[in-house]
Amino acid sequence: MNTLKINDLNLTYKNGYNAINGISLEIKNGMFGLLGPNGAGKSSLMKTIVGLQKPTSGSITFNDVNVVEDTDYIKKNLGFLPQDFGVYPKVNAYDLLNHIAILKGINNKAERQKQIQYLLEKVNLWNFRDKEVHTFSGGMKQRFGVAQALLGDPKIIIVDEPTAGLDPEERNRFNTLLSDISSEVVVILSTHLVEDVKNLCSEMTVMNRGQILKTGKPKELIKELKGKIWSKSIANDELEIYQSDLNVISQQLIERQLQITVVATSQPEGFSSVDPILEHVYFNVLSQNSEL
Ligand SMILES: Nc1ncnc2c1ncn2[C@@H]1O[C@H](COP(=O)(O)OP(=O)(O)O)[C@@H](O)[C@H]1O
Ligand SMILES: [Mg+2]
Repeated sequence: MNTLKINDLNLTYKNGYNAINGISLEIKNGMFGLLGPNGAGKSSLMKTIVGLQKPTSGSITFNDVNVVEDTDYIKKNLGFLPQDFGVYPKVNAYDLLNHIAILKGINNKAERQKQIQYLLEKVNLWNFRDKEVHTFSGGMKQRFGVAQALLGDPKIIIVDEPTAGLDPEERNRFNTLLSDISSEVVVILSTHLVEDVKNLCSEMTVMNRGQILKTGKPKELIKELKGKIWSKSIANDELEIYQSDLNVISQQLIERQLQITVVATSQPEGFSSVDPILEHVYFNVLSQNSEL
């Protein structure tokens, strides 16, 4: 079992912005969803874990090794797919993986060939190995990104908003691929889409404004809201009244009629009960945070 432990982590950028505010987390093998809106601090947290930037204070250990001091240890065991991979050189998929494998220290040529073929087959790109990566579709590029992240048998895989820009079918395929891998390693998936966390992540956390707001198993977080979610169709000009009286977590136009969803321990008048889903968990946590 691999364990990543983050304890009271803080990161202040040079301009004085506190991107990470006292984060503590313990993450074990399996797929961990880091869910939060744009600007929440997800990329800041991931870049700090992988050693691209030093925290202002706090500690990070992986398998009990202090990786803030010893960045080599995490780099040796890490597969990282950053949010912005940057520009791909005009090199075919096979040669680019071979190059990255050398950078990762896989010095034995036969071993490199074996891993590259295995991974290209695993991500369904073996037939495209002679094509240049910059000509790939978004989904193919992301699958290539996973293949490079998996080179060298990493114990921890960190992927930052990997599904952005993928169509639903590509997203599904990509997420399934990640969850297949995740039983024996730590996989951290950051996303602003609840959809990515649903069904795939064994554990999740909601993050906003550099803080962890809620952590748990998706199923259990949903269960906590059972009997507390209510909805009602209202007139557009009634929204403010409802917002001042009730905890409105979302509003939606359904066939040109405004429908609001609220969290309440007992049934508000005129509302009907709704089965909780993960979106409710997410919007509820965020709405509590916005009042602080
Ligand atoms: N190098 C930096 N210097 C100053 N502020 C930064 C820097 N990088 C990110 N930020 C700020 O930190 C906050 C969190 O950004 P980020 O970690 O990219 O969030 P997310 O990945 O969740 O969208 C944002 O307000 C962003 O503008
Ligand atoms: Mg980001």
